[in-house]
Amino acid sequence: MKQIHKASILKYVVCIIILLSINWKIEDVAGSGDFMVKDVRRFVKPHLIGIKSNYEILTGILGAKIVSDAICSEEVIRMFNNESPYPPSPKVFDVVENRLASISRYPDPTCYYLNEKIAEYVGLKPENVIVGRGSLGVIELIYNVFVEFNDEVIIPIPSFEQFEFLSNAVGGKPVFIQLEKPDFILKSEMVSERVTKKTKLIIIINPNNPIGNYTPIETVKEILEEEAIVVVDEAYYEYCKKTVAPLILEYENLIVTRTFSKAFSLAGLRIGYGLANPELIMQLRKLDTVFPMSTIAIQAAIAALEDIDYAEKNVSETIKEREYIREEITKIEGLRPYSSETNFILVEITKENLDAGKLTAKLLENKILIKNCADQRGLNNKFFRVSTSTPENNRLFIKALTNIMNAQNF
Ligand SMILES: Cc1ncc(COP(=O)(O)O)c(C=O)c1O
Repeated sequence: MKQIHKASILKYVVCIIILLSINWKIEDVAGSGDFMVKDVRRFVKPHLIGIKSNYEILTGILGAKIVSDAICSEEVIRMFNNESPYPPSPKVFDVVENRLASISRYPDPTCYYLNEKIAEYVGLKPENVIVGRGSLGVIELIYNVFVEFNDEVIIPIPSFEQFEFLSNAVGGKPVFIQLEKPDFILKSEMVSERVTKKTKLIIIINPNNPIGNYTPIETVKEILEEEAIVVVDEAYYEYCKKTVAPLILEYENLIVTRTFSKAFSLAGLRIGYGLANPELIMQLRKLDTVFPMSTIAIQAAIAALEDIDYAEKNVSETIKEREYIREEITKIEGLRPYSSETNFILVEITKENLDAGKLTAKLLENKILIKNCADQRGLNNKFFRVSTSTPENNRLFIKALTNIMNAQNF
């Protein structure tokens, strides 16, 4: 075990050295005027030159193989991505198996039956629905359709990082609203103070990731009075059961996004949806490609919606387990968990001389992966986020965390 650990550390070090030398080489080549680097960049949209891709950020100095091996490892307990720890419904497995032969053909570009199922689930009409490659696929469409160069996107922080990423990727300007301790609550005045003629989108994640709290519907209604498209990301809706979706019938500027990645356990299939009035949905479709979702993803989502009871059972278990984790962390000196209406918990480290980086590394030695929030805009190195896992994994996590916090020479 110790030997494996030493070997992997060595692998990291070797990788870092190789990557640093590669970086050096690229800069050297660019500096000497090599056409491969210089000429290709000339054609790229200027605002993209300074932007780091998600790939670059994720692989960082460790390289893709190490990151891929770590992320796909069956040995690591995944408590960092807010996924469901439960498999999808047996109905999803049946449909996936039965439809495997159909993957030789292109999928149904209309998603007609899935739109109908979603409409039934949310209590709206199929023309209010657009399906996307994950809710991120829909969010990407929203940015591509509405945000022009230098348009402003209001993003309360801390927030799901992809909203900032997409703002930069389309040449927009993220305008941040810092949410403050102790409750990180968003107030409508904070938004109205930042709205300008250039504001195109206002983002509300509800409940918020990484905080886990809920912005009251009254506040959302006040924000909807602004002259901008308001995106309410309800990725964690099934855990809190509060929604502004019916407001799309009252407010022409509201788009709600939801996902099958969390409560329905389909994160790997990449399928989500947006809800809005038919005119907005039509505008969003303008930049959609013809076959964005796979047949398997479409059929799996339909099957998942045909077994809501299964998802509900997992959600209840998740909420019970989330509260177990929160209560146990409350008992540990030096840690303060925030209350949550999602499947994860934000935790503040109140102990001096301890930061989230150290704690994350220590937990990784126990093969438990949590999210270190040190680099998250709007938080600092005293915060980490932990996703609820299975009852067994949650107890392993609490045991490891307690041992680490109790260790004297930490
Ligand atoms: C707030 C929020 N929105 C969207 C997503 C991405 O969802 P999807 O898998 O549907 O793209 C996540 C994923 O963690 C999230 O936390």
